[in-house]
Amino acid sequence: MKIYKAKDYADMSRKAANILSAQVIMKPDCVLGLATGSTPIGVYNQLVEWYNKGDIDFAQVRTVNLDEYCGLSPDNVHSYAYFMRKYLFDRVNISLSNTNIPDGLAENGELECIRYDKVIQKLGGVDMQLLGLGHDGHIGFNEPEEAFEKSTHVAVLKPETRQANQRFFGEGEEVPTQAITMGIKSIMQARKILLIVSGEDKAAILARALEGPVTPRIPASILQLHNDVTVVADTAALSFIKS
Ligand code: F6R
Repeated sequence: MKIYKAKDYADMSRKAANILSAQVIMKPDCVLGLATGSTPIGVYNQLVEWYNKGDIDFAQVRTVNLDEYCGLSPDNVHSYAYFMRKYLFDRVNISLSNTNIPDGLAENGELECIRYDKVIQKLGGVDMQLLGLGHDGHIGFNEPEEAFEKSTHVAVLKPETRQANQRFFGEGEEVPTQAITMGIKSIMQARKILLIVSGEDKAAILARALEGPVTPRIPASILQLHNDVTVVADTAALSFIKS
């Protein structure tokens, strides 16, 4: 596992964007696994800036997103489909038909999960998976459990996760209670993983994930078993790491 220390959020975003853009340069038709949330926004802004300068080309890039809320349509401003268009897809030359996000409106969640795993398989797997880290150690919406959930599944969101995500929703607007998420196995099958973490509030969980025992109680701890993980985190987030 390589850990790159960034000065602050802006530096973390630039460093992580550099790694993603190197991936796109080396394999223009690569499959990027993408994340939402506040952590990757700076990364996407940086990629858009480089795209505008002509330094990165998304024409052949394919993407799969980690997760989507159940019950939200792609036009709902709180959906992850909307987020991805807003921060990346509508700002670069990616073909929307090359982008994949679980269907939050699928009538049958279980069938949608099976369909999504097949999509990833058909793409030949993920070349580089971008991940953020939840305060409880979740990756995607793989919440702390007694056992690792393997493939794409419908996850019931923990109250803490719903509370953490309330900041994206308006007053009186409910955060959905369920989401479709790629599972731990799908994430671990990515050829490379890029974990980005920022802020003091993530320092304790980052240390437990990277240096503590591997346990489904801290889903991100499974990353210790992957052979190509790069962590880009700022000084604040790395403040509890011993090594
Ligand atoms: C988002 C996702 C989540 C977030 C995590 C951290 O697609 O899968 O695991 O990465 O909740 O969110 P932020 O970056 O908002 O702290």
